[in-house]
Amino acid sequence: MPIRPSGETGGNSVTEPSSVTAKAIASASACDDARLRSVFRCLVRHLHAFVDEVDLTPEEWLAGIQFLTATGHMCDDYRQEFMLLSDTLGVTSLVDEIAHRAKGDATESSVLGPFYTENPPEIAQGESIAASGNGVPLDVRGRVRDNRGVGIGGAVVDIWGTDGEGLYDSQHDSHPIDCRGRIRTAPDGGFALRTVLPQSYSIPTDGPVGALLQRLGRHTFRPAHLHFRISAEGFVPLTTAIYAAGDPYLSSDAVFGVRASLIEAFPRDEVTGRATLERDFLLSEVPRGESAARKRLPS
Ligand code: BEZ
Ligand code: FE
Repeated sequence: MPIRPSGETGGNSVTEPSSVTAKAIASASACDDARLRSVFRCLVRHLHAFVDEVDLTPEEWLAGIQFLTATGHMCDDYRQEFMLLSDTLGVTSLVDEIAHRAKGDATESSVLGPFYTENPPEIAQGESIAASGNGVPLDVRGRVRDNRGVGIGGAVVDIWGTDGEGLYDSQHDSHPIDCRGRIRTAPDGGFALRTVLPQSYSIPTDGPVGALLQRLGRHTFRPAHLHFRISAEGFVPLTTAIYAAGDPYLSSDAVFGVRASLIEAFPRDEVTGRATLERDFLLSEVPRGESAARKRLPS
């Protein structure tokens, strides 16, 4: 029997399957936080509809609980398996996409991933963040601008990417700082630095999420990309990545982070052997007063 969509007042009989849905939804009636109340109710409605639609068996339900428990056990200050689960389900990317709707012409955002570190070493204009130099040299140039095109001076730009072997520095045993750094934009919003060409790589597969992807027959690769996290006074911070045109994983990214507007060529000069990425980033101003309009949910 299909469950009732709203479930507010249903449940004539305790034996009717959907009555538990109605009761679970009604259980939030005393919550005086309107947003929490409506999000909880919507979650219960969809979760119960899912259980009903797939006819979830007790064994499958238990396997799900065990999977989530193993995911929790894999989390600590350095490893966030729940985030990886959200990433590989496409939820992180969908939340990004929804948040972007309120930002007009701003550069689209993309998943942060687990390899960001706070306060990376600061470099001056033109310097290199590639400590080991392992890989194809890459010159990165761009401007951070507002939505009228005016450069934003003093913006903080954090950049990180893989080395030439497709590994982030934190994946090396000795954890050397490599291919990550912070640069402040010049008064015209410009920045220039050197690093190495990032490579496509596999997301971590040694936990329950990796095991799930394997059972699903999914590959675990991300296309080559360079991450950027940009902040400036008065502007909404931007977390994004620029993806290398032509990468074989662009259309099947394991975490669904690729946006067409974030794909760029990284052309390579045949004489010098150096590659180049030129890319500007547009930030949106922090909205004054009213927050962005939000979809109305039943309360
Ligand atoms: C990354 O791009 O670094 C990443 C993003 C999500 C999951 C794993 C890695
Ligand atoms: Fe990455």
